[in-house]
Amino acid sequence: TRHFLTDLDLSPAEQAEVLDLAAAMKADRYGYRTYAGPAGAGTAASKTVAVIFDKTSTRTRVSFAAGIADLGGNPLIINPGESQIGHKESVADTARVLERMVHTIVWRTYAQAGLEEMARYSAVPVINALSDDYHPCQLLADLLTVREHHGRTAGLTLAYLGDAANNMANSYLLAGVTAGMHMRVAGPDGYLPGEAVVAAARERAQATGGSVLVTTSAAEALDGADVLATDTWVSMGQEDEKADRADVFRPYAIDEAALATAAPGAIVLHCLPAYRGYEISAGVIDGPQSVVWDEAENRLHAQKAIMHWLMVQSGLLEATSPA
Ligand code: CP
Ligand code: NVA
Repeated sequence: TRHFLTDLDLSPAEQAEVLDLAAAMKADRYGYRTYAGPAGAGTAASKTVAVIFDKTSTRTRVSFAAGIADLGGNPLIINPGESQIGHKESVADTARVLERMVHTIVWRTYAQAGLEEMARYSAVPVINALSDDYHPCQLLADLLTVREHHGRTAGLTLAYLGDAANNMANSYLLAGVTAGMHMRVAGPDGYLPGEAVVAAARERAQATGGSVLVTTSAAEALDGADVLATDTWVSMGQEDEKADRADVFRPYAIDEAALATAAPGAIVLHCLPAYRGYEISAGVIDGPQSVVWDEAENRLHAQKAIMHWLMVQSGLLEATSPA
């Protein structure tokens, strides 16, 4: 069984294959009914995907629900207060039950260890829909967006500014080098990526021709970059630290002055939700170089592709072609 728990779970070739499939699915949104089961068998033969949310969500919730429906499957959205997960029943027992009934488990949660435990006990694919450490589905959407606007990923420079110790920073590092990009990550001291993630990114970069730069200098990261990216300074679960964080991160905002030092045709990414006037200025996010709405839409296409691909790889689904 193949799972998608971190960005490293796809090799460079596999990541490219999933992105190709996502582009094909985007070009023919309703053409891939691979979760619908045999013609005439009705919904009884179609695939059900459990999508569990321990944290709030707009894009992830809607893109998975709509994407599973596009594929002809049944989305089962589970909110924590409405299930036994986490408070009355262990992750392992939850996995043992769900794998008997559903065909894939998608989970947004806090600890990465929980996802690893779910995967260990599940015979069906488990997909990380955001944890404290990684947001790999978002990165598939981001890379698809970079491909669409720059025609490629390999050899491009991406600068991520802000909270460089959060889930998005980690995923940018790992997925970016997997795509052959030169990754620059800038944040204040104390908010830089951990050694293990940086080492893993450097190791993968050797195979793809990408590279990794971690710095406290926003200017160094921005200089001539092809893609700029940022994320909220206050991730889910950090709400108490809001006031302190705003002061620390201020020099890493993506505003008009920052954008002016990037490459002339640079594009700007933000996974959203965005806080205008904090990590990104209104002029930049609402300006001509921003591609954040394409990026948001691409969650749908990228997740359809990864769901389908994991099931095929796991021997749970056959066709890769439109049905
Ligand atoms: N970008 C993202 O994951 O958005 P949601 O929190 O709304 O799902
Ligand atoms: N870093 C943010 C991403 C939101 C999609 C968070 O974890 O809240």
